Amino acid sequence: MSEATIIDGKAFALKVREGVAKKVAKLKADHGITPGLAVVLVGEDPASQVYVRSKGKSTVEAGMESFEFRMPDTASHEEVLAKVEELNADPRVHGILVQLPLPKQVNEEAIINAILPAKDVDGFHVINTGRLSTGQDAMVPCTPLGCQMMLREHLGAEGMKGAEAVIVGRSNIVGKPMAQLLLQDHCTVTIAHSRTADLPGVVRRADIVVAAVGRPEMVRGDWIKPGATVIDVGINRIEKEDGKTRLVGDVCFDEAVKVAGAITPVPGGVGPMTIACLLVNTVTAACRQHGVAEPEA
Ligand code: GUN
Repeated sequence: MSEATIIDGKAFALKVREGVAKKVAKLKADHGITPGLAVVLVGEDPASQVYVRSKGKSTVEAGMESFEFRMPDTASHEEVLAKVEELNADPRVHGILVQLPLPKQVNEEAIINAILPAKDVDGFHVINTGRLSTGQDAMVPCTPLGCQMMLREHLGAEGMKGAEAVIVGRSNIVGKPMAQLLLQDHCTVTIAHSRTADLPGVVRRADIVVAAVGRPEMVRGDWIKPGATVIDVGINRIEKEDGKTRLVGDVCFDEAVKVAGAITPVPGGVGPMTIACLLVNTVTAACRQHGVAEPEA
């Protein structure tokens, strides 16, 4: 059997970001609006620092304003809350992202729900999750939105309609919102997880697999139905025999690529699309806050 098509998230993300940059230019020219994104990083987690730097850079490259706030890992709940309230009130800021995880003295749920839903570009506020699950206009979490865009591009609307989709992972950030988006595209959706009975058997039914469990290479090649489309959300750093590290997904790529019809690589698959979707959400948020139609790219 021939190997799977590799879905190039990096190239697709570049296209999405170019589209965002065009929309930003039109918003500036036609309405004098410059979308602004504020990112709050509490603590020194190295992976979070890398993400935040990369978010700031792509925001500026798209022509938007980037505001970055770093707080020490000793910051109190009240201090983080005060920062969110300040950003809620700042008209230059259309999107607010508080990088997770937060230190243990900060109540993550309360902070997320303190962000104005209209500025919640992560789509984690309970108002946005409710709006998404009832089919109302919502801010949609970036990672599942990126996965949906890649699936639509690869399979088309007809390829998704009626397909069996199995999501492995039930997180609020990926698994649950992904299920809503796949339902909107008329898939038959199962959310499986690490405690699902006969997980390999359940995944084997899937025409579409979205792996988001955070366990390195857990989904094996013989779990994949021949020809299935596999979206790998995992980003796990593992140590190799020579002591160096490498990034792997939640899917054993080398096995799955021999069976799947199409698959996203790690790195270069879902990851770049997540940041591109954050920019998309910031433009959407800015347009809604100003009551203007979103420009065509
Ligand atoms: N930490 C890991 N992924 C994310 C994300 O998508 N948003 C936020 N705010 N924090 C994260």
